[in-house]
Amino acid sequence: MQNFEEFLKSNTPSVNSFHPHYNKALEYIVNSNGKRFRPKLLLSIVEAYEPLLVESSYKVALAIELFHTYSLIHDDLPCMDNSNLRRGKETLHILYDEATATLIGDALNTYAFELISTSAFRADILIELVKILSTNGGLSGMVLGQAVDLEFENIPLKLEQIETLHRDKTAKLIAASLEMGAVIVGLDFKTRETLYNFGLDLGLLFQVQDDIIDVTKSSKEVGKPTGNDVEKNSFINILGLDNSIEYANKLAKKLNSDFSKFDNKLQTALKPILDTYLYRHKNQKGKI
Ligand code: IPE
Ligand code: IPE
Ligand code: MG
Ligand code: MG
Ligand code: MG
Repeated sequence: MQNFEEFLKSNTPSVNSFHPHYNKALEYIVNSNGKRFRPKLLLSIVEAYEPLLVESSYKVALAIELFHTYSLIHDDLPCMDNSNLRRGKETLHILYDEATATLIGDALNTYAFELISTSAFRADILIELVKILSTNGGLSGMVLGQAVDLEFENIPLKLEQIETLHRDKTAKLIAASLEMGAVIVGLDFKTRETLYNFGLDLGLLFQVQDDIIDVTKSSKEVGKPTGNDVEKNSFINILGLDNSIEYANKLAKKLNSDFSKFDNKLQTALKPILDTYLYRHKNQKGKI
């Protein structure tokens, strides 16, 4: 069986067109090495309950990765975070121009839904998948989070508001990835909800860690500019580094305790991911 990375490489979108660099731009950003955190979450749920469905789930996992990639391309634009480095390479708008980057982002956003709607699952499952990705990624999800993030640059928010912002811009898509896996394998509504809520906490932790990394790691280590969040409502700017690490520790502990109540299949499936990500904020102290 192909692994997901191979699937992604052989299924990078491309079109028939006389445009000089449209396909190259798609290839450039889709084939750059992201962690594939969201696809891993979805696929781990499918693997746990219905391993035979893993291969047909690759298209849905790719849809989430491409949706996420669109959010990064737009996040890096001069009108947003104005970043020149992503996944260790020049950002798309630097390599080409802002119009190309905006449009490649737009294309990946809509292509994600094309991928889901043409994947090999029952129609009711496809509709559910489209609903989850659009609800968490769009209007009241990632897009709203990005809007709040940018609107309140240099205007300090309360901790509770920052949690909401982080949940919207990052955690909802991560929670959606778990829930979409649960929908594919037909888990009951309650388990779906449990996984979604677990994903919200995991996603919040993921973004707090990202904020910590911004002040503790070099851009060479993480492949994107660091020290870039000075104007942001990052956890660091509100709580300071030590308290942000403490906050992350508490969340990681809560996640561990919730995880211990999952059934055996789920625990086996999610353990490798949690082992890698739950404490990635550790040992960051003193590196700044
Ligand atoms: C970066 O996401 C943006 C955040 C939500 C923190 P990732 O850290 O998953 O980025 P890639 O996909 O590995 O590049
Ligand atoms: C962006 O958060 C999250 C998205 C929804 C794209 P950041 O702005 O912190 O992501 P990085 O640090 O540029 O990857
Ligand atoms: Mg941003
Ligand atoms: Mg950014
Ligand atoms: Mg960041």
